[in-house]
Amino acid sequence: MPHHETTPLDLAVIGGSGLYNFPGLENAERHTVDTPYGPASGDIVVGDFAGKRIAFLARHGESHTLPPHRVNYRANVWALHSLGARRVVGVNAVGGIRDDMGPRVIVVPDQLIDYTHGRLTSYCDVEGAEVKHIDFSEPYAESLRRQLLDAARAAGVAAIDGGCYGATQGPRLETRAEIARMKRDGCDLVGMTGMPEAVLARELELDYACLALVANFAAGCGDEAEISIEEIFAHLAAATADVPRILAELLRV
Ligand code: HPA
Repeated sequence: MPHHETTPLDLAVIGGSGLYNFPGLENAERHTVDTPYGPASGDIVVGDFAGKRIAFLARHGESHTLPPHRVNYRANVWALHSLGARRVVGVNAVGGIRDDMGPRVIVVPDQLIDYTHGRLTSYCDVEGAEVKHIDFSEPYAESLRRQLLDAARAAGVAAIDGGCYGATQGPRLETRAEIARMKRDGCDLVGMTGMPEAVLARELELDYACLALVANFAAGCGDEAEISIEEIFAHLAAATADVPRILAELLRV
């Protein structure tokens, strides 16, 4: 694939719920990338941040019009790759299952379990494409995870190192029984968009890591009888405010 950019990108960021544009991007250019898999969630904005060249894509679209099961993950990851991205941070809103993963906590998970269904999870299902069985024992790039954790520390944010991200289909939240099962399975966090993004990045040999922002305790894990969407977005806004500082530190090294 030809690369549209001549300047290599230092980082690509996929923004989740609550992060629809990247504050502080300078000399920004918008790219509408055509991919063999159809359109990405929207334009990719490439600009300068902290003295480096970064790309930003809003996973749900800039006005949050795509639910998790309708995001074109293949097009999104392909488009970032075709613009020259080699490392990608996925920012994901999540529910916390583990006691120490309550609202506004930031986690850099090191494992995942995929409970989604009916999503297009590979670049290998196009006729004539080479079939690849990739290793996915460690779903996230350890080097990028470490860099994110160091960056969070440098930014004064107490991010938790490790945890298992359970990816659910959504767009509804889970039942208490589903979360109880996920807890027994070993999940610490639950979100709707971590997969297939992570595996598609691996197929394209991108370094990929997840910055998970806890918006709420998952069903049955907190004191509330119900989860309020207003509360989710309020907690998310608070946690999201730390993201540019963390990424600025990440780009310093
Ligand atoms: N479940 C799934 N995804 C989420 C949640 C949740 O409780 N909170 C934010 N994203």
